[in-house]
Formats: sequence, C-alpha cells, structure tokens
Amino acid sequence: MASAIRGMWHHLAQQPASYERKQYYSFGRVLGAGTFGEVRESVFAPDGRHVAIKVIKKSSLNGDETLVLKEIDIVRHLHHRNIVKLLDWFESKDKYYLVFELCTGGELFEKISQRGHFTETDAIKLLRCGYESIAYLHEHNIVHRDIKPENFIFRDRSEDAPLMLADFGIARIMRSDDEVLSTMCGSFGYAAPEILLRQGHGKAVDIWSMGVVAFSTLCGYSPFWRFEEPRSLMLAMQSNNIEFDERYWWGISESAKDFIRLSLRSDPNERMTAAEALQHPWLTGDTASTRDLLPDVIHNFNARATLRRAVLKIQAVNRLRKLSLTSSGRSNSGSSEGSEPDKSPSNADMETGHSEQQQQQQQPPPPYSPEPGANGNIPGSWKP
Ligand SMILES: Nc1ncnc2c1ncn2[C@@H]1O[C@H](COP(=O)(O)OP(=O)(O)O)[C@@H](O)[C@H]1O
Ligand SMILES: [Mg+2]
Repeated sequence: MASAIRGMWHHLAQQPASYERKQYYSFGRVLGAGTFGEVRESVFAPDGRHVAIKVIKKSSLNGDETLVLKEIDIVRHLHHRNIVKLLDWFESKDKYYLVFELCTGGELFEKISQRGHFTETDAIKLLRCGYESIAYLHEHNIVHRDIKPENFIFRDRSEDAPLMLADFGIARIMRSDDEVLSTMCGSFGYAAPEILLRQGHGKAVDIWSMGVVAFSTLCGYSPFWRFEEPRSLMLAMQSNNIEFDERYWWGISESAKDFIRLSLRSDPNERMTAAEALQHPWLTGDTASTRDLLPDVIHNFNARATLRRAVLKIQAVNRLRKLSLTSSGRSNSGSSEGSEPDKSPSNADMETGHSEQQQQQQQPPPPYSPEPGANGNIPGSWKP
C-alpha cells in the first residue's frame, strides 16, 4: 500500500521509475568532487552496506545524457579485482546516481604520502594493479582515456590494499582494434600527444597516461613539468627523450627508466602494450632498487600544494570544462568518434594547457601534477 502511494507520488512529481530505489540509500560525506557532480559515501538500508554514490547533475551534461549512459553501460560489464564495481544505478528528474562498491583507502598519492617509506618495489606493487586493470580493459576493447592518480583509489586502509581503477566517464568501447577515436579528451598533463594533436587515438593513450603516473609515482613530479609553452611541451612529448633529473632519480633502477621510456614513446605504435608492460622485467623481476623515495616524492608533491595553486588550478579546470562543453556537440554527435579528426591542436585547447603550465612554472622545485582541493581532488578532466 505504502509503495503504491509512493509510486503515485513519484508519478505526480514526474520522477523516473527507478527513482523508487533512492529511498533505500542514505547519503553521507563527500568522498570526491567529480567533473559533473560529486561522489558521496552512502548506506544501503536493507543490509547496512556502505557504498559510494556518484551523483551527476543532468544540467551539467549540457543536454547529452548519453555520457552517463555510456559510463554505466561500460562499467556494469566489468569484473576485475582492480576495477571498482557498479552495484546499482537510478535517476531522478535532475540527477543520475551511480552506486559503486566503496573504496575506503583514499587516492593513490594521498596514501603514498602517509607511508613511512616508499621504494621502487612498493611502487611496482601499486603500478601492477594499474597495468592489470588496463590490460583487462584493453583485452575487452575498452579504452579508459582518463588514467591519472585521482582515478586510482585503494580498496581499503590495509597495508597491502589493492589499487582500484575508477571513473569510466570518458571510456569508450572500440568496435575493432583498428578503430580510431578522435574526441579531445583526458586530463591535462596525462593526455597522450596523439590526443592533443588530434591525430586519432586508441588503447595506447592509456599506456602513455600510465607512463606519466609511473614516472610521477617514483619522483613526485610530472615528466613534462618544465615545458610551459604549448609548442615546447609538444616537442618534449614527441622527443622520446625523457629527462630523469639525477637529483631525484639517483639510485632508481635503469630498468624503471627503460619501462618509462617504453611507455612514453611518442609514436603510439612504438609504445608498449599493457600486456607487454606486465611482462617487462621491471614489473616482473627483481631489478628494483631499495632506496627510500618518499622524501623526494613528498617534497616534489608538496611543492604545488599551496592554496594559491589550488585556486589557479580551479580556474584552469573551469576553462577546460567550458572548452569541453563547447566541443561536446561536436564530440558526442555519435559520428564524431572515428570520423576525420581535426589534425591541428586548436589554439583554445593549447592555450588552456598553456596557462596551466605557466602556473606550474612559477614555483620550483619540479611540481607534481594533481592538485589538492576538496578531499585532495579537483576535477580536471575534459569530459567530451
Ligand atoms: N568507489 C569509490 N569509493 C571511494 N571514493 C570514490 C569512489 N569512486 C570515486 N571516488 C572518489 O571520487 C572522485 C571522483 O570520482 P570519479 O568517478 O573519478 O568522478 P569524475 O568522473 O567526476 O572524475 C575520485 O577521484 C575518488 O576520490
Ligand atoms: Mg575522476
């Protein structure tokens, strides 16, 4: 009887049918800020289970709700120990609610910075989780396209908690290995050169981003932090000459550097694949050094952790967001993926990147890319 009345009320309030399920969840603290909403810890009343609910405002989608439906469609079929599971989803007339298993261990760098020490061997353990999740996705012809530290979270707070990949907001299923995606996407600082140059892209973009994550994990700053100007940044990304500053890279194994060079090959065809990464001697062997990297990682990471930078970054992110929304009509028209890509990097895109890089330039020593903010996470994705 009560449910019949509730159903009638939802109908009168013009709520979608699935809105009925919202009553089972009570909403708690914010776990992370997303590009289109936020992720909140919630409790599923029937069994008291704690979950994470990604709340996405429909108004922020600029009329294109397929973005969320694609995310749901991809993530609900994924079953891997290093990928967050979608448990349920429902919608109201204003919002989508995606219910995920709750990961309580915090984001990648948050947790690293809380450790007593951190060696190459520790880094390998974490990175293997990342490469395994990516290898699984690529085997299933899915490209994540937004690999970055904020999208890796630890399942729990235990010492050896697995690292989990989240956020399939801009992931795509490829119809074949040869399909070429063309949307401008990803996060500044992690996006592969072929994305910025709009040359068409595929699975290899995840390997590039993961290479940046691997580099940053070992030293606390991004490999391209020095290049403030778009042209020199692009040249650096295309040079195949990754600079390992001896101040921070002394004692780090040659095997690690080789691994990073193979991840950051500018030509996507020369880049190693996820399966090759998992077979690389650095990830499999005992070539890692035992030097404690934590002091340098924290030093370089903290170099950017000032309020001023957080504010500047938010401004840059807002510009990126505007950019993505203005391009969303083109990007999500359905036929744009795989259509003839725009070959040149647009001024608007590169200018946005430029200003962000300039901000990074102002304060030595080398900065690390992700910025602190609410819950240590500021959204920085171009959601096409
Ligand atoms: N399952 C989860 N458990 C705990 N925290 C999560 C979970 N999913 C996401 N988060 C937190 O919320 C943030 C934003 O979520 P994400 O899915 O990446 O949204 P967006 O697409 O907006 O970036 C993440 O960076 C992470 O800090
Ligand atoms: Mg995210």
